[in-house]
Amino acid sequence: MVKKIKIQLGSVQETLLLPLMARAKDAQDRNPILSDKEAIKLIERLDVDQDKLLRNLTEIGILGLCYRASKIEEAIQTFLQKYPNGKILDIGAGLDTTYYRCDNGEALWYDLDMPDAMQLREQLLPPPNKRVTYIHKSMFDYSWIDDIGDISNGLFITIPGVLPYFKEEEVSTFLSTIASRLKGAEVMFDIISQFGKFFVDMRIKGAGMKAAHLQWGILEANKITYWSRHIELIRTLKIFENSAVQRAKSISTKIMMRANQAMDMTQLVHLRFR
Ligand SMILES: C[S@@+](CC[C@H](N)C(=O)[O-])C[C@H]1O[C@@H](n2cnc3c(N)ncnc32)[C@H](O)[C@@H]1O
Repeated sequence: MVKKIKIQLGSVQETLLLPLMARAKDAQDRNPILSDKEAIKLIERLDVDQDKLLRNLTEIGILGLCYRASKIEEAIQTFLQKYPNGKILDIGAGLDTTYYRCDNGEALWYDLDMPDAMQLREQLLPPPNKRVTYIHKSMFDYSWIDDIGDISNGLFITIPGVLPYFKEEEVSTFLSTIASRLKGAEVMFDIISQFGKFFVDMRIKGAGMKAAHLQWGILEANKITYWSRHIELIRTLKIFENSAVQRAKSISTKIMMRANQAMDMTQLVHLRFR
């Protein structure tokens, strides 16, 4: 029997297990959102308590994480139609597998994460070819901007499940800094309201990740544009549309999704740097 890999990651890094578990569970559904079969193989290689993760994710968590990933994928596919040989940068990549579902054979892909998380990624998902580069750095080490190099063929940055773990001042400094240096890039990430933060934090703690705290909460995405004249809001997207509510099996999930929709508890933000 192959020995499973023990996880030894920092507190925020460990949260990469949550979206991975959600994608693996979705892939076992008869009508999956993402059909990420790779996620099933990856989670099986790790020494983790899958039941505990699933109990705390609950149905709304699993659907939310998979819809988040699928909406980001749609945005990447739209970007690649315009910029087929552009660059895609995934900040806080964890064990994300978007490349395997969206690659067009031409684009250049960059996955950035903390050194310990990247080491795990290298071990489980080594770069599949020369168009994929792994960057073992914190996103606050801005030398990654040089690692990305020329962006005249287009750059799309995704940051799913990362920014809410930091303080608002850290997020605003980060976005303002990269906006002034990466003009023309598009960026997509999720935001959570102060109210939504309470529920999601409870789920993260319940899954055993007691030291990972959500810190940044925001309801009105347009306020992000106040941080820098280089930031323009393209659109916001709801994580749960009506089709998501129809898909949910439990009544309590449907009710929570409606509340999430009505109060904009979790949204995706699509920005352009100018
Ligand atoms: C909830 S996980 C999301 C993983 C991945 N984006 C996904 O959706 O599957 C949060 C990720 O943020 C990463 N992270 C935490 N601090 C970071 C930092 N300072 N720079 C880059 N990534 C960071 C963690 O290592 C982890 O992979």
